Amino acid sequence: MNKFTQVSDVEDVSALIKEAIQLKADPFLSDIGSQKTLAMIFLNPSLRTRMSTQRAGQNLGMNTIVMNMDKDGWALEFEDGAIMDGNTVEHIKDAAQVISQYCDVLAIRSFARFEDREEDYNEQVLSQLITHASVPIVSMESATRHPLQSLADLVTIAEIGIKKPKIAVTWAPHPKPLPHAVVNSFLEWIKTTDADVTLTHPEGYELDEEFSGGLNVTYDQKEALEDADFVYTKSWASYTQYGKRPPVEGNWTVTADKMKLTKNGRFMHCLPIRRNVVAEDAVIDGSIVYEQAKNRICSCQAVLKKMLETN
Ligand code: CP
Repeated sequence: MNKFTQVSDVEDVSALIKEAIQLKADPFLSDIGSQKTLAMIFLNPSLRTRMSTQRAGQNLGMNTIVMNMDKDGWALEFEDGAIMDGNTVEHIKDAAQVISQYCDVLAIRSFARFEDREEDYNEQVLSQLITHASVPIVSMESATRHPLQSLADLVTIAEIGIKKPKIAVTWAPHPKPLPHAVVNSFLEWIKTTDADVTLTHPEGYELDEEFSGGLNVTYDQKEALEDADFVYTKSWASYTQYGKRPPVEGNWTVTADKMKLTKNGRFMHCLPIRRNVVAEDAVIDGSIVYEQAKNRICSCQAVLKKMLETN
C-alpha cells in the first residue's frame, strides 16, 4: 500500500480491521518502524488526528516530525504553472520533493476550502502531493474524505459485535458550514460491510451521489433512528449550494428522547462536537465517542504497519 487516501486504497478492509484490533490488544507487537520517520504536515487544526497518528507511529518505533504548515511553513502554491509573484512563497511541487528527503511516510491534513467545489472534489492539494512526493502518502483528512477516522469507526462498530447492524447516519445542526469529508468517508467505508445503513438529512443537504448512492435516504430523522444499533452523527454544509447552509425545518439536534427510538443505539461522532447543538449532553455522555477516539491509534498503526511492510 503506497497511499492511504480512500477505501479503494485498501485491498482487504476486514483484514485491516482485524489487524487494528490485534494492535489495540498488543500495541508494541511490531517495531517495523524502527529507524523510519513519519512526517505529519498540517494545513488545518487537529487534536485527535495529530496525537493519535503520532502515537501510532511511535508504537511501531517510528520517529515523528510534525509541521503546522499553516502557521510555521511558507505559504504554499498549488496551481500548476502559477506565476508566483503574489503571496505564495513555495510551490507544493518543491515542498513535496523536499519533505520526501526527510521521511519514509508522509501524512497530510488539508480540508476543503469551500471556494470551488470542483477544486475541492478534485482533491487539488492531495493529488499534487501524491504526484510530487517520492514516499507513501497518508491522508489525515482531505477535502472529501477522512479515511483514518472511518477505519477507526469501523473498528469501533466491529468491536461491539452486532451482526448486520442497523446504522442511522444523521445530519445535525452546527453554527458553521462544515466539510463533507467525515460523512462521505464513513459512507464509502461502511458500504464494504454488511451493515444496513439509512442516511437522513434535511432537504438541501444531499451528498454527492458517489457517496450516498445505493443507500436508503430519508428526510425523516425519526424514521431513520427507529431500531438503529448505531447513530452516526455529523454536520455538513450543502453540496448542491456548495459550502452554504440552506435553512432547515424542525429540530435536528440528537436528543435523549430521539435516542429512545433506537435499539439501545450507540451514539457515534468523530469529535470535536458542539454540545447541545449537535447532540445533547445526555446523549454524548456515556456514548462510545471516546472509544472511537481511542481507536484512532490502533487503526492508524495498522495502516502504517501495512505501508512499511509493502514499501
Ligand atoms: N476526528 C478528528 O479528526 O479530530 P481532529 O480534527 O481533532 O483531528
